Amino acid sequence: MDITSIGVVGAGQMGNGIAHVMALAGYEVLLNDINQDALDAAVARIDKNLERQVSREKVSAEDKAAAMSRISTTLELPALGRTDLVIEAATEREEIKHQIFDTLKPHLGPDTILTSNTSSISITRLASRTDRPERFMGFHFMNPVPVMQLVELIRGIATDEPTYQTCLGIVNKLEKTAASAEDFPAFIVNRILIPMINEACYTLYEGVGNVASIDNAMKLGANHPMGPLELADFIGLDTCLAIMNVLHDGLADTKYRPCPLLTKYVEAGWLGRKVKRGFYDYRGDVPVPTR
Ligand SMILES: NC(=O)c1ccc[n+]([C@@H]2O[C@H](COP(=O)([O-])OP(=O)(O)OC[C@H]3O[C@@H](n4cnc5c(N)ncnc54)[C@H](O)[C@@H]3O)[C@@H](O)[C@H]2O)c1
Repeated sequence: MDITSIGVVGAGQMGNGIAHVMALAGYEVLLNDINQDALDAAVARIDKNLERQVSREKVSAEDKAAAMSRISTTLELPALGRTDLVIEAATEREEIKHQIFDTLKPHLGPDTILTSNTSSISITRLASRTDRPERFMGFHFMNPVPVMQLVELIRGIATDEPTYQTCLGIVNKLEKTAASAEDFPAFIVNRILIPMINEACYTLYEGVGNVASIDNAMKLGANHPMGPLELADFIGLDTCLAIMNVLHDGLADTKYRPCPLLTKYVEAGWLGRKVKRGFYDYRGDVPVPTR
């Protein structure tokens, strides 16, 4: 299917990044949120991030201006019904996502493709509530969207081949790389990455190493650009714990049990960089390990 316009629901960290890369690739973007401040902040952020790309000579000033002119915003979700493809990137709560697809339903064109950027909710379950499970997919971008090369494409049980090929065509046009994943908890990247982080937490919990030795060991011994605990702080410890719980509940295997120390950090509100404290304390000039 020929896609020219894209509706993005949710103008948070992911929604603004998705709008940015889509507009730069030539798509008309209609960005929706329930909050006008979020829409204004998203447009300001896209402008700033594009300007950074201009200053690094990755994007020309003309291309930046053209991309900005392709982005419009609306508080009216039904307005997205006239787009060719909708990417839902609202808050990670299943009832919110169901409500969004329910509201859109009477306004959608017959061929509009629906997708969700969810990190963990079943694509098959989201699709089953819509009138078009065969034209529904997971379209999972990585954070930050303009920087990260990968997009996971997740087929629900009913997703048809033309829908998959259409989404793959968009990923190619974005000059990103697709990894196709079946619809099982946490898909590919988080299925592998988050248990590794959880294991790093167990390594710390059991006293095998301290924060610095665990991160240094994985940076120098496995050539990871960031240590697993540093990375956990970057992702957010609440997010890491939520994904472990999705794996534990969805796969019912004790190997996915969340580390009690990870739970304790989350209960303490030590969620990582966003609150300036997690496995490291970021309140000073340099991050200081908390263990
Ligand atoms: N943050 C990440 O690293 C990351 C990575 C990949 C995927 N995701 C997924 O992307 C989605 C969004 O995550 P985020 O980090 O951008 O969240 P966020 O909190 O930054 O933004 C969510 C936005 O959704 C808006 N919203 C809430 N309810 C809405 C509704 N009914 N209609 C329209 N907008 C609504 C909120 O106002 C907010 O602006 C989630 O499904 C998340 O799992 C996040």
